[in-house]
Amino acid sequence: MCGIIGYVGNDHALPIVATGLKNLEYRGYDSVGIALNENGIDVFKKSGEIDDLDVPETHPSNCGIGHTRWSTHGKPTDVNAHPHTDEDGEVAVVHNGIIDNYEALRAELDSHTFTSETDTEVVPHLVEEYLADDHDLRSAVEATIARLDGSFAIAVTASGHDGFVVARRDSPLVVGHGDDGAFVASDVTAFLEHTRDVSYLEDGDVAHLTTDGVSVFHDGEGTDRAVQTVEWEAEAAEKGGYDHYMLKEIHEQPQALRQTLSGRLDTVTGDVDLELDLPEQYLSSLQEIQIVACGTSNHAGRYAARLFEQFADVRTTVETASEYEFSGGRDPWRTLVVAVTQSGETADTLSAMRRAASAGARTLAITNMVGSTAARDADHVVYIRAGPEIGVAATKTFAAQVATLTMVSVYLGRQRGTLSGDRASSLLSNLRELPGAVQQVLDDEERTRDVAAEFVDSDAFFFIGRKLGWPVSLEGALKLKEISYIHAEGFAAGELKHGTLALVTDQTPVVAVLTDGAAPRKSLNNVKEVESRDAPVVGVSSLDDTTKYLDVEFTVPELGVLEPLVANVYLQLFAYHIADELGRPIDKPRNLAKSVTVE
Ligand code: F6R
Repeated sequence: MCGIIGYVGNDHALPIVATGLKNLEYRGYDSVGIALNENGIDVFKKSGEIDDLDVPETHPSNCGIGHTRWSTHGKPTDVNAHPHTDEDGEVAVVHNGIIDNYEALRAELDSHTFTSETDTEVVPHLVEEYLADDHDLRSAVEATIARLDGSFAIAVTASGHDGFVVARRDSPLVVGHGDDGAFVASDVTAFLEHTRDVSYLEDGDVAHLTTDGVSVFHDGEGTDRAVQTVEWEAEAAEKGGYDHYMLKEIHEQPQALRQTLSGRLDTVTGDVDLELDLPEQYLSSLQEIQIVACGTSNHAGRYAARLFEQFADVRTTVETASEYEFSGGRDPWRTLVVAVTQSGETADTLSAMRRAASAGARTLAITNMVGSTAARDADHVVYIRAGPEIGVAATKTFAAQVATLTMVSVYLGRQRGTLSGDRASSLLSNLRELPGAVQQVLDDEERTRDVAAEFVDSDAFFFIGRKLGWPVSLEGALKLKEISYIHAEGFAAGELKHGTLALVTDQTPVVAVLTDGAAPRKSLNNVKEVESRDAPVVGVSSLDDTTKYLDVEFTVPELGVLEPLVANVYLQLFAYHIADELGRPIDKPRNLAKSVTVE
């Protein structure tokens, strides 16, 4: 997804902005650009990669804005790349998001000449109009954004004006306060090597960044946004010796899970401390939980739904966020809507949350990103604390989401009186053992690499599992297809025979989740079904008598309802090594972006 970086201060802006863009590469992009403001504006932009950008060795400007674009309006061409300018090149703008009314605004600006197909280009033209009308840069931007419908984070710089002005609505922006200048970015990773002191802008904020510092305004009035310290080390966002971020993040899971669980479990009493304060009466009268999420987060939600029903005795549905409506005679006051989102910025999930909130339902966000829109919009938030995830394919955040949601299920069960202290203690003990169990799987990586090499030329893969094994089979298939580009599908094991079995041949390996929590004995019948159609079967099992049914067996340590989550680590490694064998660009799969901020 698009990324923004801006710098103004005592140093030359070009290297800082260029490095910031590099740091944002992981978000996915198809074109890139920089504007430098120094007695006039110089723009460098291009479709393609940052390294292709034709910038001078040095440039004297101490003020610059940069952008990585992921096309939504208009193809990824040089002209459509950001920054966009007015006709005279006096105003330059970078923008994330979508301006819904850009066609009407273009029609209104009929005396202006537009060169790109983008929605963004209306912004510099509007700013130009307001500057010509004697506005200063900030008030020109304020007047401009008042005209925009849709979502945006923008940075605007103009010839003859100090620094740049930024504004946000429904798209994140974070300001960095360095010793030698001020930064802005769509994501702290962009400038983390320069400063860890940051403040998150709120929706509707406008900030002016100059060599003198940062001034934030809301509704035209000066305001302060608290400065927080980012604890992540800059190195944490680097590859740390692995070939790919994805592999590094798969291996980080034990540590990420320890961080997720840290200080939150009491295995003696069976209680959890999530700093979650849902009113007692609300919890006891709760009728339904609706989980809204997309992709991998949706699979984590499906895992959690079974735990919520089992431990908190409350009906739980899982909705694809883009399809969500609050309907069907539900009582909003007795419904909890749980948004599961790693980034906290997924447009479909945010929009589902807003629909739920406007119907009167209480919302809870489960997210990795402190200060994200989901975290701020929700009535309640629990962070999964997985640390930064750079690989486009979610891995450690899936594990941390499921672990966090397991704790939420214990919290709900304890508060509602549906989960005994003993049962809760044993679940929490399993959670404590989870990092170690994941480590055992990681120690078996060599074998997953060999097995991946064996199956790399397969036509397609089918993943099957029941109960908690079903979301894991969906996740295993998603991971494999997104990074290897081989067709893969996940199924409830019993469903395969209702049609898809017709596709099963000796060229379509079947991967079966056969652990506790996944009704493994029943799934063995489905294993036999596919075997009799000559499909090779890879089993991820915690049973001690499955070897004879399987062509390949990966063994999962005993861990009750968390076994399918541990099995998933094998599926991650399997997907990774198949994609690696095929030489795929694993961290940046084609057509995909880390954070999908358009509906
Ligand atoms: C797949 C993947 C995506 C995300 C989805 C939701 O590996 O990462 O399917 O899970 O785009 O993203 P978040 O969790 O940020 O809302």
